[in-house]
Amino acid sequence: MNIQRIALLTSGGDAPGMNAAIRAVVRTAVFHKMEVWGIRRGYEGLIEGDMIPLQAQDVSNIIARGGTILKTARSKAFQTEEGRRNAFTQLQQRGIEGLILIGGDGTFRGAHAFFQEHQIPAIGLPGTIDNDLAGTDYTIGFDTAVNTAVEAIDKIRDTAEAHDRLFIVEVMGRDAGYIALHSGLACGAEDILIPEVETLLGQVVARICDDERRKKTVHIIVVSEGDDLKGGASALYEYIRHDFPQLDTRMCVLGHIQRGGSPTCADRILASRLGFAAVNALRAGKSQVMAGLVNDQVVFTPFDQAVKQQANLHRDMLQMIRVLAV
Ligand code: F6P
Repeated sequence: MNIQRIALLTSGGDAPGMNAAIRAVVRTAVFHKMEVWGIRRGYEGLIEGDMIPLQAQDVSNIIARGGTILKTARSKAFQTEEGRRNAFTQLQQRGIEGLILIGGDGTFRGAHAFFQEHQIPAIGLPGTIDNDLAGTDYTIGFDTAVNTAVEAIDKIRDTAEAHDRLFIVEVMGRDAGYIALHSGLACGAEDILIPEVETLLGQVVARICDDERRKKTVHIIVVSEGDDLKGGASALYEYIRHDFPQLDTRMCVLGHIQRGGSPTCADRILASRLGFAAVNALRAGKSQVMAGLVNDQVVFTPFDQAVKQQANLHRDMLQMIRVLAV
């Protein structure tokens, strides 16, 4: 298929490495003498026709930058048929023949509906710090977010050790525990609570008491914001403060610092490889699939199968983490 004019957008929560992906898409398309349009603010911008032409030099010096030069949004309007119809009209008016979408599971859910109604070739790239997509070992932004969390938790351990404190640290992950699991393991956390595994308060408490008995003076609990213990770190903090007033307990919510910052080398490489592959896939006639990296190979997964996935999450790592933390 001889596609000449494409557009790309970033959607959902921003993720470090989105800019590296934008750069790769634009430069690959320019190499093939294609015209590229950057859609601003995700599907919102698509519906409103907020688009700018992009040349190779427009993406200079962005490979190392966090955020997204195209800006991003979570669009409610795109969830309606009318919104999607308006989006299609904008593409038709400009003669855009293919789309590249960088985002998380909400992005691909929207894409799936859109492409059932309006057939226009599209390739997705997994861009989310949560790492909760099927069809790729890692999503763009995850590695940077985990490294940011690791750096923060290491610092928290220093002060926790100085005061012999119990610390509860909340990390991001709306419905997924990957950030908690990976950062917790890498920091030697004493406990990790994730949405994929039921949190039993009695067992959390038993593990604290166990450390007390062994005169372990620091206890760091990494909690995923999406944990089934509703209320995240602050609920657990209140509970422990109430039931264990003798413990010197503090809590810290890492929040959006995990979304920002310069992408790691791994994220830049992942984003560049997938951006390059996405344009070539469009040119080769592929459509309605997300490009991902599995076992170091580019693979393509249909949008409806790319959403929310827990298969990669190694639950047995939790058991290992507890053994290693003794
Ligand atoms: O999906 C990425 C993510 O950072 C989640 O981990 C988090 O729950 C959510 O986005 C936060 O969204 P917002 O920035 O809109 O508050």
